[in-house]
Amino acid sequence: MSSIAKVLIHASQFPDAVRRDLLESLRHRQVNHKFHYDSLKQTQKWLALHRAYSPSRNDPRCGDSYDAAFAATVAQLAGPTTLLVGLGCGGGQKDARLLRQLAEHRRQVSYVPCDVSTAMVLVARDAALTVLPEQDVFPLVCDLLTTGDLPAVLDQLHPEPMPRVMTFFGMIPNFEPAQILPKLASLVRMEDTLLFSANLAPGDDYAAGVERILPQYDNALTRDWLMTFLSDLGVERADGQLRFRIREHPPGMVLLRVEGNFHFANSRSIKLDDERFEFRAGESIGLFFSYRYTPELVRQWLHRYGLAVRDHWIAPSGEEGVFLCRRS
Ligand SMILES: C[S@@+](CC[C@H](N)C(=O)[O-])C[C@H]1O[C@@H](n2cnc3c(N)ncnc32)[C@H](O)[C@@H]1O
Repeated sequence: MSSIAKVLIHASQFPDAVRRDLLESLRHRQVNHKFHYDSLKQTQKWLALHRAYSPSRNDPRCGDSYDAAFAATVAQLAGPTTLLVGLGCGGGQKDARLLRQLAEHRRQVSYVPCDVSTAMVLVARDAALTVLPEQDVFPLVCDLLTTGDLPAVLDQLHPEPMPRVMTFFGMIPNFEPAQILPKLASLVRMEDTLLFSANLAPGDDYAAGVERILPQYDNALTRDWLMTFLSDLGVERADGQLRFRIREHPPGMVLLRVEGNFHFANSRSIKLDDERFEFRAGESIGLFFSYRYTPELVRQWLHRYGLAVRDHWIAPSGEEGVFLCRRS
């Protein structure tokens, strides 16, 4: 294998754009979650956390529901070639499982691992290289929220027409759905398949289900991962406390999310470029949120943006679901 990897970086992740987004996060006191995957250190911490808590990694029956969704996807693909686009691929473990199934069916596959984090894209590329040759993997770094021309970028990257499978795994909880879903919908063409997965609230009682999964966030590994963002800006752990809570957001919209907010006990000033951000004792900054859906909420939200759920596979624990979607 070559010791050089070619990675395309979209302008949405050029230094000026990233700086602008970081200043925005501090001005609005709500951290854009992409900043929790920025550095190699954060990527390693998140991968360790994912290994420890993700149902898809720890509950074999959750893994089975992904495999069943992949088998159904592969069975319905026409022609001998496929382009797999991993949107927010992370470490690419799930995409690699799908690639394996595609390869077992002797399909000629190309893969675009796409993520905001260069480190993640490289980890996903490595996972894919266990199945595909280097020349069929096209790593792409971009911000899905701010990239306006992603459909054109994908066409440019892979001009030959072929059936496309887009994966959007574990992404929806960390975005405001009204912001990301129009972007996602704009990428899915009539002939494409979208595989979408979401962390779900288990059981029939939505609020009780969200309470049940709170320990997956309120734990030492998650705290350590989230606090890296603040420590890199000079905030010390002793400056306050990271607290988790469950909240309906926006109020009246039914959706519940787990929030992690850092509450300052001391005053702290953060200087970035020419701007100074003052946090006084008693003030807080939103570090993280994760929306929890039910299968019905997933269906309703996707429908609003012209995406129809054609099939779904829910893990027996009820904590994660995979949804096969098409343009409606
Ligand atoms: C919860 S992880 C999911 C990773 C993977 N899909 C999985 O299921 O294991 C979220 C991923 O989204 C990426 N991400 C966050 N904000 C993003 C953005 N605005 N555009 C693209 N990727 C983003 C992160 O770098 C991270 O790899």
